[in-house]
Amino acid sequence: MPSLPVLDHDSVLAAVSPAAAIERVHDGFLRLHSGDWEMPPKVYLQSPPFGDFRAMPARGDGLALLKWITSFPGNPARGLPTVNGVICLSDAETGLPLMLLDARSVTALRTGAVAAVATRALAAADARIVGIVGCGLHGAWAARCLDAAGYGPGVCFDPACEAAAALAARFHGWSVGTRLEAVRREIVCCVTPGSEIVIDVGDLGAGRHLNMLGADGPGKAEASIGAVASCSLFCDEWEQASHGGELTGAVQAGLVTREQVTDLGAVLAGAAPGRPGPAAVTLFDSTGLAIQDLAVASAAYEAWRQGSVQAQEVTL
Ligand SMILES: NC(=O)c1ccc[n+]([C@@H]2O[C@H](COP(=O)([O-])OP(=O)(O)OC[C@H]3O[C@@H](n4cnc5c(N)ncnc54)[C@H](O)[C@@H]3O)[C@@H](O)[C@H]2O)c1
Repeated sequence: MPSLPVLDHDSVLAAVSPAAAIERVHDGFLRLHSGDWEMPPKVYLQSPPFGDFRAMPARGDGLALLKWITSFPGNPARGLPTVNGVICLSDAETGLPLMLLDARSVTALRTGAVAAVATRALAAADARIVGIVGCGLHGAWAARCLDAAGYGPGVCFDPACEAAAALAARFHGWSVGTRLEAVRREIVCCVTPGSEIVIDVGDLGAGRHLNMLGADGPGKAEASIGAVASCSLFCDEWEQASHGGELTGAVQAGLVTREQVTDLGAVLAGAAPGRPGPAAVTLFDSTGLAIQDLAVASAAYEAWRQGSVQAQEVTL
């Protein structure tokens, strides 16, 4: 077995900029929509009461990927990140492993990137001002990618005031605010653990766009069922969103059906309409897709092949 390159956290971030991740993730959604890229729904393995593991495979462009990743909400209290894991990228022709990558950095990049992709596709044309609700790791990456895509300034809200202050300080003109101040912006990103409601019906001002990123597993929700049912709905992938996403509660209550929800890939491909009109409130449910990981991991692999980043080597 030849030696296998391993890209650590910092090397992944050096290999793929937020702007590159946004374009790659956009392209990944188009390829999923066209059927060129394939992705079964992710598999959850609960680890009560701590959190869950997810196995996420995808295949496309001669590569196959498996991400083995976690969400352990109690970890920050132990001084550990909520999300951890590893990605194996393989050759889709021979099955041979090609590279191991840190999954935390790939997840952060692709999650932030999808917020920018969905905002470009669904927010009102002149919307620029951002509200971030939940300023932990992925809230920060959503803000970074929105900033890279030309959105901002923004208002950051987090009950952990230092997290909101640290995030606001990263970008010119951004500030710390209350929940209400953050949810009244034109583009609202919710990136909390999904254990309490942060968006209710009263928060749905005309013309707003909501990226709901935090509810990425069964039992999590950031918006009330009534709020979800009142929006024009979009998702990354219906199976995941209806069983372990922001839409799940409204689907289970019989208030939302498949016909009411449009896949982001269909909007990007021009196969389905996006925002219905200037006054609509659009809600994008992100559950996190393996094709997003493939989009970013393949960009990192290319950067390594071109010699723009170095990797450690292991022999299995
Ligand atoms: N959609 C996706 O693709 C995707 C990808 C990765 C993570 N996630 C999910 O995103 C969520 C956040 O992950 P993270 O890694 O950023 O976690 P994190 O622990 O780093 O950050 C969560 C932040 O939310 C804040 N918070 C808690 N309750 C809040 C409330 N009521 N209002 C506002 N802020 C609140 C916390 O103080 C913390 O700063 C998790 O549920 C995770 O599973 C989703």
